[in-house]
Amino acid sequence: EEELYIVYKGVYLVKLIHTPESLKYYEEFSFRPDDILIVTYPKSGTTWMQEIVPLILSQGDPVVVDTVPSWDRVPWLHHNKTRKLNLDQRPSPRVFITHFQYNMMSTGFLKVKPRVIYVMRNPRDVFTSYSHFSRMASFLVKPGTQTELLHRLLDGKVVFGSWFDHVKGWLAAREQQHIMYISYEEMILDLEASVTRMAQFLDTPLDSEMIRKITDRCVFKNMKKNKMSNYSLVPSTMMDQNVSEFLRKGIAGDWKNHLTVAEAEYFDEFYRKQMQDVKYTFVWD
Ligand code: PPS
Repeated sequence: EEELYIVYKGVYLVKLIHTPESLKYYEEFSFRPDDILIVTYPKSGTTWMQEIVPLILSQGDPVVVDTVPSWDRVPWLHHNKTRKLNLDQRPSPRVFITHFQYNMMSTGFLKVKPRVIYVMRNPRDVFTSYSHFSRMASFLVKPGTQTELLHRLLDGKVVFGSWFDHVKGWLAAREQQHIMYISYEEMILDLEASVTRMAQFLDTPLDSEMIRKITDRCVFKNMKKNKMSNYSLVPSTMMDQNVSEFLRKGIAGDWKNHLTVAEAEYFDEFYRKQMQDVKYTFVWD
């Protein structure tokens, strides 16, 4: 851990991409009220959203997603490279992405209240996806045994901390009128309806033909072919897609093929205790 991660506000961050300078840049970043911030826990639909939201804003014109890598069209505010993107010169509405928990948000964010789309995924599938990802990404601590990784994830000893803190923190955020909540599972069940809801939230009217076009580009098998979005531009020394592809399966419920019965029972018990006071209705419950 010490070699690969730094601790920021109590959670692990990958040292390779987070530096004191990049975190300072994030803390001082000037938001605009019409900015759009996509927020996810890792492995919950981040990359998918980096495809969908630009296509909504361009009303289905694919030029941006076909020519600009996902991390430049929807940048991470806390990554080291972002400082070079001259974000203050981008026209509105700008779109950014973060995995930060609510209590890691900057004073600028809390003051300006940009629009937020918060995407959640069944933590059992997050675990499944993360365990494959941590085998292929050289900047993450190796998973060890599956049960060891499960405990690390449940206890928040993975990058960006605990899924439970993340989801509970964002669900209780003060800026409710500025936040749209959606889940990976709703997007799997009905992507057209999800895109429609996002477009409404972003005040971008789309006709049914545009929605159909956007949805078609963003379904797993088509998006997987987009070099600008499937992380094939990242060197294999960082992400070895021969070990596990970044766009790996793209389904809901793969945890059933991955967790043992004992692990699934332990997970259920842990989940129940952590989530007993949460009022939100999740698709997977
Ligand atoms: S990261 O590293 O946090 O940015 O990862 P993230 O993009 O959040 O999550 C990766 C998982 O999302 C799946 N994915 C998709 N599913 C359905 N449709 C589309 N278009 C899509 N794009 C990415 C990806 O396959 C990872 O999930 P798993 O379960 O591993 O397949």
